[in-house]
Amino acid sequence: MAKASPKFVCQACGATAPKWQGRCDACGGWNTLVEETAESRGPGVAAKLAGGGRRVEFVALRGTSAPPPRTRSGMAELDRVLGGGFVAGSAVLVGGDPGIGKSTILLQAAARVSVAGGRVLYISGEEAVEQIRLRALRLGLADAPLALAAASALRDIAASLEDEADATLVVIDSIQTVWTDALDSAPGTVGQVRACAAELIRLAKSRGFALVLVGHVTKEGALAGPRVLEHMVDATLYFEGDRGHQFRILRAVKNRFGATDEIGVFEMTEEGLVEVPNPSALFLAERRGNIAGSAVFAGLEGTRPVLMEVQALLSPTPGGGTPRRQVVGWDSARLSMLMAVLESRCGVSLGQNDVYLNIAGGLRVNEPAADLAVAAALVSAATDRPTSSGAVYFGEVGLSGEVRQVSQAEARLREAAKLGFTAAVLPRRVARGGRTPQAPEGVTVREIGHLADLVA
Ligand code: TYD
Ligand code: MG
Repeated sequence: MAKASPKFVCQACGATAPKWQGRCDACGGWNTLVEETAESRGPGVAAKLAGGGRRVEFVALRGTSAPPPRTRSGMAELDRVLGGGFVAGSAVLVGGDPGIGKSTILLQAAARVSVAGGRVLYISGEEAVEQIRLRALRLGLADAPLALAAASALRDIAASLEDEADATLVVIDSIQTVWTDALDSAPGTVGQVRACAAELIRLAKSRGFALVLVGHVTKEGALAGPRVLEHMVDATLYFEGDRGHQFRILRAVKNRFGATDEIGVFEMTEEGLVEVPNPSALFLAERRGNIAGSAVFAGLEGTRPVLMEVQALLSPTPGGGTPRRQVVGWDSARLSMLMAVLESRCGVSLGQNDVYLNIAGGLRVNEPAADLAVAAALVSAATDRPTSSGAVYFGEVGLSGEVRQVSQAEARLREAAKLGFTAAVLPRRVARGGRTPQAPEGVTVREIGHLADLVA
């Protein structure tokens, strides 16, 4: 066997470097490189790679294949995000901040599957069996026929799963605690996580059970031990929410067996996570009714659509001084530009006022697409008339007041529909091959070409 040589692996992005350095060349992260041992590729590797293979069998694309067998968890919000339930032989990664509720939702789902007759194994490397029992008791799941184990050595877990002839679902909480003695690096490092996940996924495919891996998220919001996992699994779900709030959102960012813009909304209670079939109620509850100066922006976070509330407040500048502009969560230069456009192109008088702008919920928006929502909030504050409460806004605004197209209009509209909104104000489609975004059922689209149309 080739000699093992050390290499340095960035724990944030998975890039490797031959020498230790303070900063990762690939992602720019500081102090993220950790030494891990890798099998070196000797000169014999090329020879070993070729030769001795079996011929790959090609088949025609035309033909029929049965849909993959699925096991429903019985939690409709979770099943929807999964694309209809857990797929046999597939691997799902569930990521989220510590304490957000990953173990809770998976214990609930696992219990439901076991009650419905599936064989479910819940393996925890984070909590002792007694702790899990206590949690199950609190969640009212103590009678579920679920098989529990506290284990973290891959060798032991793999040996047990190898014998499992009829497991339906296996939950590993969390992949960062699983380790293999085949590698010198510590549990939770990229090499360990990758090697352990690969073996578990192989077992899932060969034994035909659905595998769920829980993964922690770093402070920066990436799955620790990291992107490589996202490539290996069939679906990646993020469980997110503000700790100060009681709602949690489960979001698919990758799904080989379903759509990636599905979200599931849950409310956190003493008895665990409760599905929220009508999320808009929860979301609008935060909005404090129909007040002037508020508009809902249908934004995108990376590839994920997210709705957020933009709030604007105007108050007379005291003593005729210089008006203040205070912005939280948005670019203040952009606010000044929008105000100038509103005043000189649309005849909206913002007067001798201090202007405060806030993206509610502590979010930070960088997208120009928020222009239209900000403008709507400003106009609403200036005229003291609330924006239509069922509407979302998105679109970029140019210096002449024209409203410009933004990407992913359909994803934004679908998210708005999902969260119960019934109308959307968005940029008019332009001639150059643009097509009107397909509005989901129940959403009325109003296309505008100029900011003045919004004011009118
Ligand atoms: P937990 O599921 O342990 O989070 P994670 O596995 O993501 O780290 O949940 C954290 C704490 O919150 C735990 O003490 C239980 C509590 N909790 C509830 O009381 N109700 C709930 O609905 C959820 C999701 C959590
Ligand atoms: Mg946990």
